[in-house]
Amino acid sequence: MKRTIKIVLLTLFGVGYVLAQSSGQEKPAEQVYNNIQVFKGLPASQLQTVMTFMAGSLGVKCSHCHAGPFEKDDKPEKQTARRMIRMVFDINRGNFSGMNAVTCYTCHRGQPTPSTVPSLGQSLWQSAGAADAKAVTNLPTVDQVLDKYVEAIGGKSSLMKLRSRIVKGVRVGADGVVVPEEVYQKAPNKLLIVTRYPELVLRKGFDGARGWARDAKGATILSEQDLAELERDADFYKDINLKRLYGPMNVKGKEKIGEQQAYVVEAKSNKGSSERLYFDVQNGLLIRRYKEFKIAIGSFPTQTEYEDYQEIDGIKLPFTLRWSIPGRTWGRKITEVKHNTAIDEAIFSPIGLKN
Ligand code: HEC
Ligand code: HEC
Repeated sequence: MKRTIKIVLLTLFGVGYVLAQSSGQEKPAEQVYNNIQVFKGLPASQLQTVMTFMAGSLGVKCSHCHAGPFEKDDKPEKQTARRMIRMVFDINRGNFSGMNAVTCYTCHRGQPTPSTVPSLGQSLWQSAGAADAKAVTNLPTVDQVLDKYVEAIGGKSSLMKLRSRIVKGVRVGADGVVVPEEVYQKAPNKLLIVTRYPELVLRKGFDGARGWARDAKGATILSEQDLAELERDADFYKDINLKRLYGPMNVKGKEKIGEQQAYVVEAKSNKGSSERLYFDVQNGLLIRRYKEFKIAIGSFPTQTEYEDYQEIDGIKLPFTLRWSIPGRTWGRKITEVKHNTAIDEAIFSPIGLKN
């Protein structure tokens, strides 16, 4: 445990930007955790994500492989998993030049025991519907989609009138438990999220340069991806300048999301992840953001859904947000939004926090 804390302090109080540092100086998993045999050399902050990926690929909870403390080898499934991890590394090294072509999900598909028998119900001998193939002509350009989005949320000038935002609402946990949550934002790029669990208050922030997270016990580890997300969320005017966050973008097609038709815009973020943004064909609003980033054993998918847009102070905001990662979905429901009230700068800083 001691070691964990050391890394975090380094991240929090080190000189310069945490984001730039986190990859270079980070410790390998075996120096932070107690019983690492197959993931030696993995950046410590990636371990949780890798575990979530494995659990999601098999469609199981952590307890499928872990009974007591995580470092113990008291379940046979954990040993099997080690064997599987080695096997996957070997398959990819031996057959796919080391690329993560095969992952846990390739075989498991959300089940602990992979199927060995093909499924029934397909009619491959019928000619495919030609109409489907045609549907993707006549797409708008990226600029048209993005411009329509800016108009849909109220336009640039309305947004530029806002300098700060205080959001109150609740976090709906993956387990269904509902707790209060507050979000403080200040232009151009300061952010604080406070989640109040009964026994613990969790704070995550970005102070314009550094991303951080801490609970009552002190600082917690943020992965490089968490930091990238915090920095992105902190960007107060990102919606009117989405292009700044991405390299080349293109409109890939149309897809149905629930009842809505959406234009799918593909983009690579400046942080290296590949993303898809889904804009409602009808009203132009952003309804989904899908992202994949590379981890040691595959690509890790995450999704944000933006629902229940409501107008407030001349702009439209999604009052319900839903996040998904493999095996888990949670969200935020907003009940109150205030703009342009004064916020003390000090709350965005990781140092000297009080409850
Ligand atoms: C499919 C089996 C499997 C599942 C599911 C799984 N783990 Fe693991 N976990 C492992 C294996 C195997 C190791 C040891 C890795 C190694 O030897 O490098 C491990 C190691 C760990 C460690 C390091 C412990 C230490 O100190 O050495 C932590 C922490 C951990 N897992 C947390 C989790 C969490 C949290 C979840 C649920 C999100 C989870 N695991 C789900 C198989 C699993
Ligand atoms: C090439 C296909 C393949 C890949 C890839 C694969 N598995 Fe498996 N896995 C299997 C098969 C087949 C079984 C069932 C074997 C049996 O029942 O004896 C299995 C069984 C398991 C089991 C034990 C079953 C149970 O009920 O818990 C665990 C745990 C497991 N795999 C974890 C993983 C993890 C973690 C990964 C990714 C690192 C992975 N597997 C990748 C094919 C695969």
